[in-house]
Amino acid sequence: MTKSKTELTDPVEENRALHATESRIAIAGHPLHAMLVAFPIALTMSVLGADLLYWWTGDAFWPRAAGWAAFGAFLIGVTAGITGTVELLVVKGIRNRAASWTHFILAVMLLSILGMNWAWRIGDYEAAVLPLGLLMSLVAAGLTAVTGWHGGKLVFDYQIGTKRPE
Ligand code: HEM
Repeated sequence: MTKSKTELTDPVEENRALHATESRIAIAGHPLHAMLVAFPIALTMSVLGADLLYWWTGDAFWPRAAGWAAFGAFLIGVTAGITGTVELLVVKGIRNRAASWTHFILAVMLLSILGMNWAWRIGDYEAAVLPLGLLMSLVAAGLTAVTGWHGGKLVFDYQIGTKRPE
């Protein structure tokens, strides 16, 4: 029997340039981006937790804690974003995957919300919580979950940032 001419091929498998996905912004092969993202993820969830606790208890400690956590989430989030963006632009196999750009767009939306959520709290951190601060924290937590999950997908499904065996 002859082979069907419409047999599908995988362009990523065929193009060797797309195999070069190894992280370059790394220490001894360990990507800086992966090391940094844990902080904005944890701090964003902490802001939401602190806002909810303030709503529940009315204790002024929580908005202060939320303000500092929002600052940390934005600052380290931007730092992580810079390492990810340099990786995206420099490594051909990362730059050429649509999934990398989807992650970038999600991350930029997330960083904008993180920046707003921090800036909104400067001055009167207590008055900033209800309702807008809490709303921004909810959106930020949701976007963090999606962006973080998608970042994991890049690594575990597409092997982006990893070294291919020879
Ligand atoms: C702003 C632009 C960003 C770009 C261009 C970017 C790009 C990347 C790339 C290329 C990877 C693959 C691993 C590597 O090569 O380091 C990755 C992984 C990942 N990213 Fe991002 N990223 C950005 C921001 C963020 C942010 C703000 C978060 C926080 C939610 C995030 C969460 C993750 C996670 C959790 C992984 C998987 C890490 C692992 O398990 O090894 N990224 N990102």
